[in-house]
Amino acid sequence: MSSPLLDHCPPTLPAAAYTDADWYAREVAAIWRREWVHVGRLSDLPLGTIRPVTVAGAGVILCRSGDGALSVFHNSCRHRGAEICAVEAPLGKLVTCPYHAWAYAARDGRLVSTAFATPTADFDRSEHGLVPVAHHVWAGSIFVSLAADPPVFAPDLGLGALDNWPMERLVTGHRLVKDLACNWKVFWENYNECLHCPGIHPELSDLVPIYREGIMSEAERPGGAVHGNRSTLKDGAETWSLDGRTCGPAFEGLTEAQRATAANFVTVYPTAFFVAHVDYARVVTITPTGPESMRLTAEWLFTPETMGQQGFDPAKVAAFATIVLEQDGAAAEMNQRGMRSPAYQHGRLMPQEFDLHHFHHWVMTRLEQPVAQTGQSGAQGDLS
Ligand code: FES
Ligand SMILES: [Fe+2]
Repeated sequence: MSSPLLDHCPPTLPAAAYTDADWYAREVAAIWRREWVHVGRLSDLPLGTIRPVTVAGAGVILCRSGDGALSVFHNSCRHRGAEICAVEAPLGKLVTCPYHAWAYAARDGRLVSTAFATPTADFDRSEHGLVPVAHHVWAGSIFVSLAADPPVFAPDLGLGALDNWPMERLVTGHRLVKDLACNWKVFWENYNECLHCPGIHPELSDLVPIYREGIMSEAERPGGAVHGNRSTLKDGAETWSLDGRTCGPAFEGLTEAQRATAANFVTVYPTAFFVAHVDYARVVTITPTGPESMRLTAEWLFTPETMGQQGFDPAKVAAFATIVLEQDGAAAEMNQRGMRSPAYQHGRLMPQEFDLHHFHHWVMTRLEQPVAQTGQSGAQGDLS
């Protein structure tokens, strides 16, 4: 394996990429309304429930029937466009618009009734079902894509990256939701390098010795020595927690390397990353809310057995990564404030910032692609 370090110091994205409303609008169209977006854990959506969520500013409804089937639609009635669902509610066989009571089949969105309205023969019911949204459940998490032709769902380490963890069985024990005053890319950039670790993360750098050097793996050492695991814990520590101890039984079936690393990161751009430890996992979701704002949602996931232990407190387990996330959030906001300076045009990446460079490439290749229309396809009659 050759060294991952960059052999030059490329420029960053320009300052406008982090502050400009037009740039942000392009990203919403080319990235957030196309790529797969994490909208929550399947186990947190009870059977027989309809839930409205917002994806890149677009209303979407998640419909989970009593038998567990999941269907996803745009939250917009085909009569005159009213929002169909404003708050989470019990779901039967039909989804009924609150405006003029058109009713749709929850399972496939078919228009079942136009209530008091009596359409003429030129109106074809079969062309006026709820508009479906592509969805995909992976590792127990629900992802949706607003694209008519969604991209291939591709976590950075492949679809099998979490196969040794019982992800579908895990339940949410703790959740942290935090609004940050930074562009969504700033958070990902911070995620993608460890040059900030020695200064920003004293607790994490104590737990993971290689982070004290500002690098993420042995491969980054000068000369590119590749022995040893990525981010191995200090002697005696078993997991990411305040005292380094596990919170319950370790997952069976992990490889020796997975146990030693103790934090297996899987990235699903642009929406989320998973971190699987030997005894629990978490998923962190990044949601842009404007050019200079985003929401961070972190969910800590445990087996039902671990949750059922007497006196078990998931908040205590979450405390360690919460410290790290708070530090990262503060760093991202500091980065954003400085980039507003009229003196800042763009920065330069250092060789260790190779993952960040790849992220910039990921963003730019999508912005440079022509954007297809999302949502309803095909004209439904003319306006005459
Ligand atoms: S807008 Fe939904 S029934 Fe009229
Ligand atoms: Fe960090």
